[in-house]
Amino acid sequence: MNYETIIVEKKEKVILFTLNRPDQLNALNSKLIDELGDGLTNAELDENIGAMVITGNAKAFAAGADIKEMKDKTFATAYMENFISKWEAITSCRKPIIAAVAGFALGGGCELAMMCDFILAGESAKFGQPEIKLGIIPGAGGTQRLTRFISKPKAMEMVLTGRMMDADEAEKSGLVSRVLKDEDLVSEAIKTAQSIANLSLPSVFLAKDSVNYSYESSLSQGVEYERKLFHSTFSLEDQKEGMEAFIEKRKPNFKNR
Ligand code: HXC
Repeated sequence: MNYETIIVEKKEKVILFTLNRPDQLNALNSKLIDELGDGLTNAELDENIGAMVITGNAKAFAAGADIKEMKDKTFATAYMENFISKWEAITSCRKPIIAAVAGFALGGGCELAMMCDFILAGESAKFGQPEIKLGIIPGAGGTQRLTRFISKPKAMEMVLTGRMMDADEAEKSGLVSRVLKDEDLVSEAIKTAQSIANLSLPSVFLAKDSVNYSYESSLSQGVEYERKLFHSTFSLEDQKEGMEAFIEKRKPNFKNR
C-alpha cells in the first residue's frame, strides 16, 4: 500500500516504518497516525513478520503532534472525537516494536517513542515534553509513562518546564535502552529487531506481555502471572526444539508453535 506520510520497508522478518514529513519535523498529524496504525495492523497480521522498527530522520524522530492541525480544536471537538485515542493502537500490538530515535522526540513524538517496547537512541536524540509551553499538557501518556520510566522528580521537572534531555541523560535516566552512533542507529535497530523476529514468536509475545503486566500489577501478582506464562511455554513445540538444539549444540529451528 502507498502511504503519504510514512515509508514502509520489509527487511526480512522486520518491518521498518520511517515517519516521512521531514519539512514539518515529522509532526504527527491525523493522516500520519492513521497510516501508521494501518501499517502496524498489516504487520501484525503478516505471519512472516516478527518485529517492527519505527524511526524518523536525522533531525527529528517527531517534533510532536501537529500544532497547526490541532490549534483550532475546542473542548467539544477534542472530546467528541476522542482526540489522541487512536494513538493507543500501537500499544495493542503483540509484536515487539523498537523506536529508533535521532534528533527531536518532543511531545507526542516522545510519547510515541515511549509507546514502543524500547527506545534505541542516536547520539543526537533529544527528548522532551514541551506541551506546557503551548498552554496544554501531554495527552498521549507523557505524564504517565515518563513518570514510570525516569522517576517522578525528573518527569515532573520535564513536564513542568518543557526542558529537553539529551541521549546521554536519557540513557542514564532509563528512558532509552542504548545510545548508538547516529549512523549506526537504524541498522542496529533492524539487527536487534531481526534477532527478536528469529526467536519463537509465542515466547516473545508471552515475554512482552509479562514485562508489560509489571506495570499493571503488584509484585506478587506479577510474579504469579509470570510463573503461569512460564509454565505455559512447556506446551510449545518451540520449547522442545529450543532445549534440544541447545543440548545438540545447534541453532534452533523455531516454528512458532
Ligand atoms: C507542527 C511543526 C511542529 C509541530 C515543527 N514544526 N514542530 N509543525 N507541529 N509539533 C514545523 C515548523 O512549524 C516549521 O514549519 C518546520 O517544522 C521546521 O521547524 P522549525 O521550528 O523551523 O525548526 P527549528 O528552528 O530547528 O526548531 C526545532 C524545534 C521546533 C525546536 C523542534 O520546531 C519546535 O519547538 N517545535 C514544536 C515542538 C513542540 O512544542 N512539540 C509539542 C507539540 S504538542 P514551517 O512551515 O514554518 O517551515 C504535542 C501534544 C501531544 O505534541 C498531545 C498528545 C499527542
